[in-house]
Amino acid sequence: MTQEFDLVVIGAGPGGYIAAIRAAQLGMRVVCVDAWSSASGGPALGGTCTNVGCIPSKALLQSSEYYDHAVHEFSEHGIRCAEPSVDLERMQARKNTVVRQNNEGIQYLFKKNKVAFVHGRASFHARSDAGWEVAVEPGAGEVLRARNVIIATGSNPRELPGIAFDEVRILSNQGALMIDKVPRRLGVIGAGVIGLELGSVWQRLGSDVTLLEALPTFLGFADEQIAKEAFKSFTKQGLKFHFGVQIDEVRTGESGVLVRYRDADRSVEPKTLEFDRLIVSIGRVPNTEGLQAQRIGLILDERGGIVVDEHCATNLPGVWAIGDVVRGPMLAHKAEEEGVAVAERIAGLAGHVDMATIPGVVYTDPEIAWVGQTEAQLTASGRAYRSGSFPFAANGRARAAGRTGGFVKILADAVSDEILGVHMIGPGVSELISEAVVAMSFRASAEDLARICHAHPTLSEAVREAALAVDRRTLNL
Ligand code: FAD
Ligand code: NAI
Repeated sequence: MTQEFDLVVIGAGPGGYIAAIRAAQLGMRVVCVDAWSSASGGPALGGTCTNVGCIPSKALLQSSEYYDHAVHEFSEHGIRCAEPSVDLERMQARKNTVVRQNNEGIQYLFKKNKVAFVHGRASFHARSDAGWEVAVEPGAGEVLRARNVIIATGSNPRELPGIAFDEVRILSNQGALMIDKVPRRLGVIGAGVIGLELGSVWQRLGSDVTLLEALPTFLGFADEQIAKEAFKSFTKQGLKFHFGVQIDEVRTGESGVLVRYRDADRSVEPKTLEFDRLIVSIGRVPNTEGLQAQRIGLILDERGGIVVDEHCATNLPGVWAIGDVVRGPMLAHKAEEEGVAVAERIAGLAGHVDMATIPGVVYTDPEIAWVGQTEAQLTASGRAYRSGSFPFAANGRARAAGRTGGFVKILADAVSDEILGVHMIGPGVSELISEAVVAMSFRASAEDLARICHAHPTLSEAVREAALAVDRRTLNL
């Protein structure tokens, strides 16, 4: 049986489910197909982000941060309590509840917006004059037909060549979020965003964490000054780093996982470290598995991602692709923006995504957040800029909270004063960055930000002070 729709969305991650809702708001008959199953076999909407990404990682980051504060900071505030301990089973159960609430939330939103949902794996079946035909497995042989299809199939964790995830000893993000006993020795291959966030979780809960990073430098994508400050904080917390490594062998045994690697100095004999568990977080690969992309002539790039233009249109008429499966940062909010933009384009509106104002956040402690260009990028492009910074150590609210590490840095055009980049490390910067995104979206100058009244005492005053610092006129430093 063939069911007719205006739009089929493949994938109910943040890209797909948001696209489906926006399209339904615009009056389209929409069906969304998603393959993710919960432990009980039912659908688990929300994709990587909800099930094994943003949401569960932030739940564990929050719980482990509370624990860390109880152990290390309460006494300074004059709070005495019996020695805190970790009930990991309860912590994991809470995380699972948070995930389930989000799964159910999306189900509710689909009902509310009249988006039809099919649980299963979708593949391109055929193309007819009436549109694209998408088959779903397992299913009763029904086919979904629509003139427009949005592919939002996300990404999968990248494996080290020849070293498969067993999710017992060698963990992807999925296994790393489900550990049932705090490992004594935790290895992490790849000191990127997942390595730092999940490494922090387990370090706070008591693991001895070592990160092995292939690149010679730390946080290459971040502003250099921010990366330096972050490195100082993370090493102080106890995370151990080795840079410029080459992994030669990973072997699991009775007592743990052996990792043989070479240091940056390749002339030195390989070294071996033994861990109880090993997280491999070396990036993610776009997922087009089982879509039958080749059958319909969909063009993929060398990474296996779907090639799209600036509006997320593929080489095939009526077929669009968004989120992790296409170029650009693999971020939930980037996927969402693309979902909205594509739904609007299909409806004949002018949806677009401004890639220059997509913020990035690392949810460690201190948090790291940025938007726009780094000093290195501005220098490389020959753009003359002025820089203003303000430390949280000089911010009253940060002092009151006892969280004085880090700073806000604003980079503005030397002539027009337009804000070109904002980089932050410190307390609550995952929220503070939104002000910078708004400012840059309106093409504000540093002077504009400096003239806006900020509530006192708030961490956001550090943003205003950094804007004042661009013109060398901070008031509190
Ligand atoms: P996904 O969320 O991957 O969803 C794709 C969906 O499509 C899945 O449900 C999948 O089952 C389904 N699917 C695939 N193929 C088919 C098919 N053929 N038929 C039917 N269904 C199919 N980003 C942030 O912005 N902030 C964060 O804090 C953050 N934290 C993260 C933490 C971790 C540990 C990880 C791994 C990622 C994190 N990310 C974060 C990245 C974020 O999860 C992704 O960028 C985001 O989920 C991408 O959304 P998407 O819709 O493109 O794909
Ligand atoms: P990543 O790209 O952030 O980091 C991967 C790291 O592994 C890099 O530093 C890379 O140099 C290193 N690496 C690559 N190959 C290696 C090898 N063979 N040996 C040692 N090191 C190696 O990718 P990660 O951490 O896996 O995360 C995947 C994606 O998920 C990210 O791109 C990010 O966009 C998204 N994510 C976002 C979060 C957020 O927004 N807070 C949180 C977690 C993930």
